[in-house]
Formats: sequence, C-alpha cells, structure tokens
Amino acid sequence: MTDQTPVAKATPTLPDAQTVTSVTHYTDRLFAFRCTRPQSLRFRSGEFVMIGLLGDNGKPLLRAYSIASPSWDEELEFYSIKVPDGPLTSRLQHIQPGDPIILRPKPVGTLVIDALLPGKRLWMLATGTGIAPFASLLRDPETWEKFEQVIVMHTCREAAELTYGRTLVEALPNDPLIGELVADKLLYYPTTTREPSAQMGRITDNMASGKVFADLGIPPLDPSIDRAMVCGSLAFNLDIKKVLEAAGLSEGANSAPAEYVVEKAFVD
Ligand code: A2P
Repeated sequence: MTDQTPVAKATPTLPDAQTVTSVTHYTDRLFAFRCTRPQSLRFRSGEFVMIGLLGDNGKPLLRAYSIASPSWDEELEFYSIKVPDGPLTSRLQHIQPGDPIILRPKPVGTLVIDALLPGKRLWMLATGTGIAPFASLLRDPETWEKFEQVIVMHTCREAAELTYGRTLVEALPNDPLIGELVADKLLYYPTTTREPSAQMGRITDNMASGKVFADLGIPPLDPSIDRAMVCGSLAFNLDIKKVLEAAGLSEGANSAPAEYVVEKAFVD
C-alpha cells in the first residue's frame, strides 16, 4: 500500500436512518422538511418522536419533534425553528433532500384526541412552532368526525411566521380527503403580536378579554362542550392554562381524558 492508495473511509451507519425528501424555508428562523417514514411506524396524529443527526462525537444528537404530517401520510413532515447556536438546529437547518436523519420510531405525547373527553368545539391554541402537531391533527379525518367546530388560534411575533400554518389551513377546504368535512367547521384566528396586521394580540389576552368570541361570533368557553389542545412556549402554556381553568376546563392525559391537553413546543 502506497501513500496514494485510496483508503475506504469508515462512514458511520446511522441507527434508525431516514432520508430527507424535501425542505422548505419559510423565514430565516423557520423551516419545514419531509422525510421517508419507517414502515413499522404507527402513530396518533399529534404525537412526537425523537429526531436528529449524528453529533461531532459520533453520538446521536436528538430532540423531541411533533410529527406535523397526518397519520395516513406515507412520508413524515416536521416544522422547526432555526437557532443559530442551537446544538441541533444550527446543523439541521442545512439538511438537503437525500440527506440522512435519525428518527427513533417511538411516538408519544398527550396532544391526542384520545386524551380529551368527547365535546363539540375543539380549540387548537398554538404559538410559534407549536402549530406543528396541529398540522397533523388538522389533516386527520378523525378530528373532523369527532368535533362540530374546530377553532385554530395561532400567534407569532410577525406575519411571515404564520405562513406555514396559514398555507396549511387555507388548503384544507380543497383537500380531497377531508375538504367536505371541513367546510363549515373550521374557524381560523391567526394573530401577530409585534408586527401590525389585520388581527393582533396574544391568545391569552384575546380569550380572556372575550375578543376572539366577539370577532368570530361564537359563545364563550363552556366546559360541557369545549375541548382545547395547547402547544407553545412554556410561558404561554402556563398562562393559557390559567385562562382555560378559569373557564372551568381541566387538564387531561392519556390515562385520564378531560377537557384540555398541553404539550411544550420545540424551542432549542
Ligand atoms: P409577544 O410578542 O407579546 O411576546 P416567542 O417567539 O417568544 O416564542 O413567542 C411567540 C408568540 O407567543 C409571540 O407572539 C408572543 O407574544 C407569544 N407569547 C409569548 N409568551 C406568551 C405568554 N406567556 N402568553 C401568551 N402569549 C405569549
């Protein structure tokens, strides 16, 4: 063997590897991507899995990500923030179609319809990337079969940050699978808090003040008919829980379904 002899590089084989199929950048802080789905993976819309990349030390660098695609989709979709010095997202934001990612096929989470008691109205309350699990639930026929009305409140600082959710919500009435079910059931209430737009304000404030009910022309929260799913920052989750509890709703879990459920949105 001479110095010129090419030496086969030891390419580490990723455990639980999947392949990225498409990437869409929405802002310099937000992007979505799709990847192949392990054949064995079954999940309930709204659940999350651990995904990531191989770290510099050769160990998997994994974070919890809500699956944004519905359970019937043959691929998986994820919606992510880009944090410049975030251990995972500083690298994940550069993935391209064809790249491998690691995906542990063990879905879990409480943001599932099974963790709610039957009801008439379902509120989906999200800040920032917290819209991801609702992107899954909104495309699942079960959501529309189980509720008479679905109200999506999504709040971001700036209008461009609403684009992923808005595009998805606006496409629902034309969806061949659920379009007809959605028709008269969907109410969408996007707001910004820092950039002026048609509708503004925090979800907590718009609920507590009664503004959202007045704007949509619907009755206030009633624990006998209203169910809520919450996904946002820790501060938002804590504050919206107070608003929901004040209206008489109590928190549910897989083991004890009740009127609302909460999950923290991915932030790193
Ligand atoms: P605000 O601009 O008034 O802080 P972030 O990017 O910080 O995660 O925030 C996403 C959105 O969630 C922003 O519109 C922000 O509003 C809102 N938000 C942040 N904290 C809370 C909270 N405790 N209650 C309600 N909304 C919140």
